[in-house]
Amino acid sequence: MKISIIGTGRMGRTLAALWAQLGHDVFLGSREAAVGQQVVAELGHNIQGGTQAEAAEFGSILLFAFPWHALIDVQRAVGQLEGKIILDCINPIMSSGSLAVGHKWSAGEEIAQQFPRAQVVKAFNTLYVDHLRQPLFGGKPATLYYCSDHTPAKEATAALGSQMGLAPVDCGPLKHARYLEPLAVFWLQMAFHMGYGPEFALQWVGREGVSG
Ligand SMILES: NC(=O)c1ccc[n+]([C@@H]2O[C@H](COP(=O)([O-])OP(=O)(O)OC[C@H]3O[C@@H](n4cnc5c(N)ncnc54)[C@H](OP(=O)(O)O)[C@@H]3O)[C@@H](O)[C@H]2O)c1
Repeated sequence: MKISIIGTGRMGRTLAALWAQLGHDVFLGSREAAVGQQVVAELGHNIQGGTQAEAAEFGSILLFAFPWHALIDVQRAVGQLEGKIILDCINPIMSSGSLAVGHKWSAGEEIAQQFPRAQVVKAFNTLYVDHLRQPLFGGKPATLYYCSDHTPAKEATAALGSQMGLAPVDCGPLKHARYLEPLAVFWLQMAFHMGYGPEFALQWVGREGVSG
């Protein structure tokens, strides 16, 4: 697959390297072309790097891996993204630790509203960046919870997750991002405020035949 990533931070770099290692064509897009090029030079794996606008042109799938407050700026840079799949891993967390949107609306739905010609999938937001390379916990894969209103986009997401060794679980329509975003906050609270630390992940545990 041709995958572009917007944001050269921890999620962007980690997933760029992983997906390139898995054989995908990856482009890492930054606010600054020089940053994008420098980061890909550090990462290796034949990843391409440049601006967000170049990234928007390149991929049929785009991962949004930037802070929530940057959405409007990114939108200006990338345009409509007509016909593209957007993987939205953004947790709209404010500096207070609370969600900027929630319960009746979600970052995922806001992104879908802002990019009405794209197919938005909420995905990867409940997974800690340091787990993406080593997704097994107790011998079982961490769960990739995802939701979207677009079946082909869901299928592409699930395929990507399986390839990474994650266990994809279809969580239904995009509006269920309202529940996946708080789930990420729950994980963060348990990891960093309740003393459990980050060495646990969220796993779907079903009885036989209830695989998610
Ligand atoms: N870290 C995790 O474990 C994790 C897990 C799940 C979901 N997420 C979500 O993934 C997204 C990225 O997280 P991250 O940990 O990769 O963050 P990060 O390390 O801070 O990187 C964010 C990147 O976004 C880009 N960016 C674009 N516009 C920006 C702006 N106005 N201000 C700051 N950065 C801007 C920057 O790349 P350029 O400078 O190249 O433009 C920056 O490096 C967040 O929405 C987060 O909620 C994170």
